[in-house]
Amino acid sequence: MSGVFIAFEGGEGAGKSTQASCLESYLRAQGYNAVLLREPGSTQLGDYLRAYLVNNEPIVPSAELLLFEASRAQLVEERVRPLLDDGAVVIADRFAGSTVAYQGHGRGIKLDRIHWLNDFATGRLYPDLTILLNIDPLIGLERVNSRQLQLALPMAGAPDRFEEEIMAFHDKVRRGFLEQAESDPDRWCIVDGHRSIVQVSTAVRAAIEGLITAKTPAKHLS
Ligand code: TMP
Repeated sequence: MSGVFIAFEGGEGAGKSTQASCLESYLRAQGYNAVLLREPGSTQLGDYLRAYLVNNEPIVPSAELLLFEASRAQLVEERVRPLLDDGAVVIADRFAGSTVAYQGHGRGIKLDRIHWLNDFATGRLYPDLTILLNIDPLIGLERVNSRQLQLALPMAGAPDRFEEEIMAFHDKVRRGFLEQAESDPDRWCIVDGHRSIVQVSTAVRAAIEGLITAKTPAKHLS
């Protein structure tokens, strides 16, 4: 495969979606075929599963885990592999690391089961680099709340399945991300998510520069 695969991970309100989108624009401006995907989502099945997964209908932890993995399996086969084969830079807003952090560390499902299912769903296709936007969950959740209020979203004040979890859950998720990043420093990079959007995007660009230079993905855009 000739492309480059970059994932963003982090807790609620860490700024992943903003930074993933900034990186896509930056790389496209340089002529790379950068494609932003999100998990769960970015396929018909993934979007369908996302709508259920983030609302507040009851789901037992094992079913929740399997639905995230089903979305991932579809995404990898339908979008990620073909794009990488075509030399694209694939930017994923969440990937397998989220399942380790949320369903493993957060919900308490055994990590060896999560790793097995991640391998099965991805066919062992993992990002070349995962950028962890590390943020205190208290600050991240405050950001989420104020964004909902600012946008006057119809659902403002109604947290989703994960946002409504207690702080102990979010602390475990943060720890789960940090453990993954610290145990695999070649494939993970920790960026301080408390800083401004510009400061974080500068750090993100510095983190991916070596990878882009080393793998030289195709330039498709003029
Ligand atoms: P989002 O914050 O990127 O919109 O993701 C939706 C939620 O899904 C978020 O609260 C984290 C959660 N999630 C998991 O619990 N496990 C996973 O494997 C993924 C991809 C997301």
